[in-house]
Order: sequence, then C-alpha cells, then structure tokens
Amino acid sequence: MTGPDKAVPDSSARDIDELIGRMTLDEKAALTAGVDAWHTFAIERLGIPPVRLTDGPNGARGATGPDYLSVTPSVCIPSASALGATWDPDVVSAASAAVARQARDKSARVLLAPTVNLHRHPLWGRNFECFSEDPFLSGKLAVAFISGVQAQGVIATVKHLVCNETEFERRTSSSEVDERTLRELYLLPFEMAVREGDVLALMTSYNRVNGRYVPDNERFLSEILRGEWGFRGLVMTDWSAGVTTIEAARGGLDLEMPGPARAFGPALARAVREGEVDEAHLDDKVRRLLRTFDEIGALADPVDKSEAPLDRPEDRAAARRAASEAIVLLTNDGVLPLSGLAKVAVIGPNAELPAVMGGGSARVKPHYSVSPLEALRQRLGFGTEVVFEAGCALATSAAEAGATASAGAGASEHAIARAVEAARQADVAIVVVGTNDYWESEGVDRETMDLPGAQSELVERVIAANPRSVVVVNSGAPVSLPFADDAAALVQCWFGGQELGNALADVLVGDADPAGRLPVTLPERIEHTPAFGNFPGESGQVRYGEGLLMGYRWYEARHLPVRFPFGHGLSYTSFQIKAVRTSASRLVRDGVLSVDVDVVNTGKRPGSEVVQLYVAPPGGGTAPPGGRLRPAKQLKGFAKVRLGPGEATTVRLELSARSFAYYDVEDAAWPVLLSRLGGPHHDPETGALHRSKAGWYVDPGTYQLHVGRSSADIAHIVEVDVEGGPEPLPATERPG
Ligand code: GLC
Repeated sequence: MTGPDKAVPDSSARDIDELIGRMTLDEKAALTAGVDAWHTFAIERLGIPPVRLTDGPNGARGATGPDYLSVTPSVCIPSASALGATWDPDVVSAASAAVARQARDKSARVLLAPTVNLHRHPLWGRNFECFSEDPFLSGKLAVAFISGVQAQGVIATVKHLVCNETEFERRTSSSEVDERTLRELYLLPFEMAVREGDVLALMTSYNRVNGRYVPDNERFLSEILRGEWGFRGLVMTDWSAGVTTIEAARGGLDLEMPGPARAFGPALARAVREGEVDEAHLDDKVRRLLRTFDEIGALADPVDKSEAPLDRPEDRAAARRAASEAIVLLTNDGVLPLSGLAKVAVIGPNAELPAVMGGGSARVKPHYSVSPLEALRQRLGFGTEVVFEAGCALATSAAEAGATASAGAGASEHAIARAVEAARQADVAIVVVGTNDYWESEGVDRETMDLPGAQSELVERVIAANPRSVVVVNSGAPVSLPFADDAAALVQCWFGGQELGNALADVLVGDADPAGRLPVTLPERIEHTPAFGNFPGESGQVRYGEGLLMGYRWYEARHLPVRFPFGHGLSYTSFQIKAVRTSASRLVRDGVLSVDVDVVNTGKRPGSEVVQLYVAPPGGGTAPPGGRLRPAKQLKGFAKVRLGPGEATTVRLELSARSFAYYDVEDAAWPVLLSRLGGPHHDPETGALHRSKAGWYVDPGTYQLHVGRSSADIAHIVEVDVEGGPEPLPATERPG
C-alpha cells in the first residue's frame, strides 16, 4: 500500500542550496517547467525524482487516458459548493484528507485544489467547484481543505489567482476590477489560504486582471503574495496558460505547466545566458520548488509512479458525512422526514442518474456511486412500495442535448404522463431534478438558470397530481425554482459525490438532520443578480461593475427580494439563539473581541444549527460623500453545533481588527490635484478622504454584530464600539 507512511517528512531534509550549487544552468532551468502533463523534471544524477501533480477538488484523478479521464478509480467527495453548504471546517478537512490519501495511493504529491474563486454569477460554469459567494466562508473552508490535504504529506494548491469567474474566453479575457473589490472579496480567500492555511502551492489563473496576465504580474506574485502575505511555497501556471519568459521570470512564477517547456526551461536558460534574466531569480525558483517538495518528503520518493488506489471505509464515510452535512432543506410543510408510507413514487432523471460532480478537470472515475433511487429502495424497501419513473431525460452530452431539442415535446409527453400517473397513485412523490457535468462544467458557462429540458414541466405536473411532492435539486449552482412555493418540501443536495444517494436517503427518512446552509444566494431572477449585464463579458473584458456588492451584499444594499437568502437552511428540529455576549463593549486598536452565543435545541429531535455572525459598520450599505462604500453587513464568524432535543451550548466566535476593516487605496493623484486648485476659492470639499497610504483601515464608531441563522434571519443585534484609527492596520493582523 502506498498510503501515507508519514505525514511528517523525513528528518534527512536535503541541503537544497548545496544541491543547487551542483546543478548546471540547464538543469536548474529544466526544473521550472513540467516534463509532461503531470510531472516535474527529474535530475537522476542528483537524486531528484519527478514529482507527480494531480487534479482535483473532489477526487485525486491521477494519470489520465487520452480522453483526459482517470485511468484508475478515485474516492469522489462532494464538489466544493456542497462542501461550502456544510459550513463545517472539520467535515471539509476529513473529506479532503480522503482525497489526499488517494493522491498518495497514486504516487502524487501535489493536489491541484482547492478552488477558491467566488460565485460571482449563477451561470459561471465552475461555480460547483468553488465554495461560496462569500470570501470569508470560502477562506475558512479552504484553510480546512488545505489542512486535511497537507497533513497527509500532499501539497495543496490554492487556485486560480485571481478573478477567474467566467469560462467565456477565459484564456484571453481581462477581469476589470477595482482594488478594494480585489482585496476585500476576490483576494481574501487566497490571503486566508496563505496566512492561515500555510498553503504550499498556488496556481495562477488563465484570465488577465486589469489587462495583465497574472504569471507575468510581479505585483500579485511578489509584492502581495510573498511580500505582504509571506507566501513561502511555489507558484505554478494553469495548464498551458499564457506566459512570457522574462516577465514571468521576474514576476515570481516558479513552474510552467504542463510540460514540455515553452516559456521556461531551455528558453529561461537562454534568457539567463543572454543577460535578460538574473540567474539569482532562477536560483530562487529552484530553491522554492525543491524546498517545498522536500518539506513534504517528495524528494525521497521513488522515481516510478505506480497507482494503487484503495477504496477505504474511512474515505467512504468521510464522503457520505460531507454529502449529508451539505444537504439544505429549503422548505418543508411537514412531509419530511418520510415515515409510515405505503407507496412512494421516485421520479426524475437524476433519481436514477445522479450528478455526483461537475465537468472538466475536476472529473474523476468514482470507485462507485449510489443513486437516490437505489438508496431509497434500500432504506424504504421494507413495507413501502417504491416505483420509479424518469419522467424526462437529462442530456449528458451535446449530441443528446441536440437530439432532445429536435425531438420536441412529443417525445417526453409520454414519459411525463407516466410519471404524473405514478405520482398520483403514491402517498408521496420524490422528484429529483437538476443538472450534471455536461450542463455545469469547466470551459463553458450556462446560458440560463432554467432546469434543462422538460424538468420544470415535469415537476409542476407532478406537484399538480400529488401535493405531497418533495422536490430535490441536484445541481452545483443555483437553478430557477418556479415551483418553490408549490412543493411540499424543497431540498438542495448539490453535486454530492459518490455517496450522494445514501446521504439524501439518510436525510429524507430522518436518519440525519438536514444540516446544510446556503453558501450562495438563490435568486428569484437572473436579472436581479449582481453581475447581470456584466457577464460573461464583451470585447475581451469582464467588468466587475458590481464591485463590493456581490452576493448577499448586493441584494441587501438594493433591498431586492431573493428566492432563498445566503445562509438559509431548515432543520427537522428547532433552535433558539437565546443570548449573545461580548467580552467587552469596546474593541481597542489591536484587541480581540470574543462573542459568546447561547444556542438551545427547542425541538424534539437531534439536529444541527449554524450560528452566523455578520458585522455591520456605521452607515453600512451606503457611501456618504467623502466616505467609503461599505456593505450593510458581512459574514465574519460562524460555528456549527449539533444538539440533542433540549440540549444547549455556547459557541465562542473571535473578532479582531480585520473583522471591522475595509481596504483603502492610495490616492496618489490627490496632492497634485490639490496643488492645481490653488487659492482659497477652490478649497476642496471638507471631509473628503484621500489617503496617502494604501492598506486596511478601521474607522472608529459603533458597529453592530448581527447574530442569526442566516443573513436574513437575525436573532440578536448587539453594538460594540470600535476604536479604529487613522493609520492602516499592521500587515501581521489576522485576515479572517
Ligand atoms: C485546467 C484548470 C485547472 C486544472 C488544470 C489541470 O484547465 O483550469 O483548475 O488544475 O487545468 O487539469
């Protein structure tokens, strides 16, 4: 078994500088690019083996065949939007550790995960692969994911830095985004992954940011990533991303993937020989690469890279727990949990063929997959008759999509009619609809939130035939829910991995409480969404015109209705957030504020609750003249609790200066502009704020702490005075 023999690397750490000193220029340059799609260059004479890298966020794919698919099977954990719905770092760490164990089984030492881009727009193809619309939740779960992976002796790779939230023209488009939005939203999960998670690798994005490719961008990769955040690991490109030798050599890039080399390798050696790149820059790259590999023991690995993936019980258990903890009960008139039923009609294409993951580089070949139909038959089988009707087909390829479209309504009418009749004759109908890895995939964005094919019609007609209908949405990102108010219960189960069916059955029959909470707002209409009109971009640009007001920040600032709010999720029991206490009524400049929250299970069943804490600055949601726009409130703390009936507990959340801070930019033009104004008659508006130094600032004032069960269900608001100050916070201030 090639499982993790030790998470702690060999004590015989190599003397990296001595190794570098023995290398030729060509050998050093060769190490800065892959030798093939999945391996780094080996230098046998110096005992440096190739290091294998593997995707991805929901499974260790290992070597791939010609169709880019796994050669050997993998444990398939829930996709990241499902992990985001768990709101539970421990659950996420256990799941990512299972993926890392499988990576080691496949002789891989670098896992290309987690993906921490944000759910900026519901139609982005890779939302399933990312945790949330909120950067704080994304960052905290990324830290947990990284911890689970690196403890197994595998390097985690946080990706894709940055503003990679569109598939359309992803290799050329430029994400146009202001500095405050960059810092407070899109860079924050990466900052947390580095400063809290000590992630050892980072992957740059395909897209440009404000006109420049990130691998060439010294400001991102040297000034911010290494200079401000203290990143000590290695930086790699995305696969075949655009790279230029000299800028990338100076810009902090270490590894060009995949091989064979194009901009690095021999081209970099030539640039050094021709004096265009200082050899010291090359030595820095080689040093970072080798030190990082050596830290996890990869330099002591054998040269041959066998694959012997194990289907471990503990990995199955971690996958099932994560899938169950992710399931969000959106509505329930009491039909759930199921009990005492003579006949259940299981309906829908995804009941038999569930979407366990999204499409693209995150795909793996699961060891197995359990469908909702199989699992419900097993769970309900004794004493309950279970009938199945697909009702309609869900295309799994372009060819099928074309065939379905051209076949027209007639083809599905018969199938829908059968399903409607089955629902009519049953005590309860369970309709499992959604998307799959064809409709939600890397490389393509969706064009509508509507469920593909005839699924919405199927759901509405089934509900009309049997009001005791439970609708289960099996998607990675938001879909239109026109039937939300008509279903007896509505459940979002995400792309739940190989154990999706068992986890869903556990929740539907009440063996597990629905413990998930929405990591993303479910909008009523696509036209209400923050990026509407600025997605997927045009003329080579994606304008992040919504700025800071992305996700729930948008809907709250504009008082727009939503279908279901960020953080929402019901339980089979009931909870009360009884009291909130702060360790002080005033937060001094570099202090820490503890917030104790008393929670009690007031119902008759065990269940889970997610306590959420949002910070509301004075004047939040507006931008007074001369002031700065601040979202009305932002998530800055959360904790998941599991309580038996009548049980109570107190959770402690910690806030620090960054919990109250906003990023401000240096207004370098202001002094020049002032000088042009001259004389008393042109004094600038009093009170206007033009800072001479960029950084994180805390304005003094009275802030509100909103504590509740979702962004829209706040149980308590307490006030705290925050000292703040005119100077930016020290760079050492904890980010999350
Ligand atoms: C890609 C993806 C990246 C993945 C890499 C290797 O195109 O953007 O996430 O890790 O290729 O498959």
